[in-house]
Amino acid sequence: MYAKELVINNFRNYKQARLAFSRGKNIIIGENAQGKTNLLEAIDLLSSGKSNRAGEERELVLWGTSNASIKLEYHARGYDESLSMDWKMKSPSAPNAVANARAQKSMFVNGVHQQSVKGILGRLLTVSFSAEDLNLLRGGPKFRRDWLDNLAIRLHPSFHDVTSSYAKSVMQRNKLLKTLSEKGRLSVSDQDELLVWDKQLARFGTQIIKMRLDLLASLLPIAENEQTHLSRSQEKLTIDYAFRAQELNTANPTDEDEEDFSPDNDSSENNLDKESNAGGNKSADNDNSRSTEKQTSAEVKSMNEVRSMENVELAKYLMKLMKERRWLELRRRQSLVGPHRDNLIFKLNGADAASYASQGQQRSIVLSLKLAELRRIQDEINEAPILLLDDVLAELDEKRAQLLLSAVGDQMQTIMSTTHLSGINNAWLADAKVMTVHAGALKEDTPHATL
Ligand SMILES: Nc1ncnc2c1ncn2[C@@H]1O[C@H](COP(=O)(O)OP(=O)(O)OP(=O)(O)O)[C@@H](O)[C@H]1O
Ligand SMILES: [Mg+2]
Repeated sequence: MYAKELVINNFRNYKQARLAFSRGKNIIIGENAQGKTNLLEAIDLLSSGKSNRAGEERELVLWGTSNASIKLEYHARGYDESLSMDWKMKSPSAPNAVANARAQKSMFVNGVHQQSVKGILGRLLTVSFSAEDLNLLRGGPKFRRDWLDNLAIRLHPSFHDVTSSYAKSVMQRNKLLKTLSEKGRLSVSDQDELLVWDKQLARFGTQIIKMRLDLLASLLPIAENEQTHLSRSQEKLTIDYAFRAQELNTANPTDEDEEDFSPDNDSSENNLDKESNAGGNKSADNDNSRSTEKQTSAEVKSMNEVRSMENVELAKYLMKLMKERRWLELRRRQSLVGPHRDNLIFKLNGADAASYASQGQQRSIVLSLKLAELRRIQDEINEAPILLLDDVLAELDEKRAQLLLSAVGDQMQTIMSTTHLSGINNAWLADAKVMTVHAGALKEDTPHATL
């Protein structure tokens, strides 16, 4: 598939822009802070429905204006289609907007309004690669979970409903845990109410875990292959799925991301974990006399064992884990069992890459993962996705940069941003369309003029 034309109005630092793409290679050159990432963000937004860097929709609206829009015409599955979004605000957007200033977003497919983001998912498939992706190795588990889930959603848009139902269930259950933890003792009806949410979590959680494991199983051989190629057969990449509820065997696990789904957390709650059990034991569970040191699990299952379980069986297993960790969940007012806490562990030749891999090796892993994502989408839809490279050559050494460029070659449309053209070989540049961006204004260029 390929992007044909992007039209932008009052989006980020662009007042108005119209950009026609080449079917093959496109390079956007600009100094820092001119609008390169903003432009790629617009395309990515139309693909995924959400910005991966804007906390609020209003951030996307050009300061001083109240209406923004982006529209992309593209070719996919043999048809010309268009995707567009617009944002409307009651008062003009500003860099320091008051907290309640909102932008109302609307989405359209071929001009037809879509009720939800699901309507646009799975149509325009892009693979983005930017310096941020190094968080796949260096960041917390959330980056890795999101990477898998977002890919799953793009391949199977109906999965979006599952992930949002799951996130809502975790929020509701955390709220309930908080209320119950203040009571001191659980009545039968409290336990019944909790059981309702346990079941919801187990049901949607099972679907998410299964989807992640299946996806991982299909990505792994491709990523492994790419890594072998990048390291000239020196490094074997493996990926483990860590069910972190299984690892929870102390009262004070150190989890950097446990608040992912909880809107209720504040520092006072986190302090609860740091308190010893002395004084009021906050656990409302009947088992609260148990030692806080050990939380034993009846069975620890491997990634492959879980993958081969029937859904009903896996849901029961999650319920069992929840039951075993109930006292701890009540004390911490957090749902501690389920895919919202799981992690992916990347290993090179058996050693944990986050701890031991060099910076170059970490970059190679991320590159292998991105290439695996790309090939996986290509296999699924029988068409190449659009590759968005945001200033990524600067992150790679020459060898890896050339490998990336030769891997994408002529097989797919590439839209790349860069601050300068050095590092891109002449053969690649020869048939690339080059555009410059300066302060949100685009200008078409020829490679020779910019060299
Ligand atoms: N809503 C907005 N209204 C006006 N300007 C904005 C808005 N949002 C972001 N900007 C500005 O857009 C400018 C360009 O941002 P962008 O991230 O695209 O830069 P870039 O060209 O990718 O730079 P770098 O090379 O440093 O990554 C920034 O200076 C930013 O402050
Ligand atoms: Mg940028």
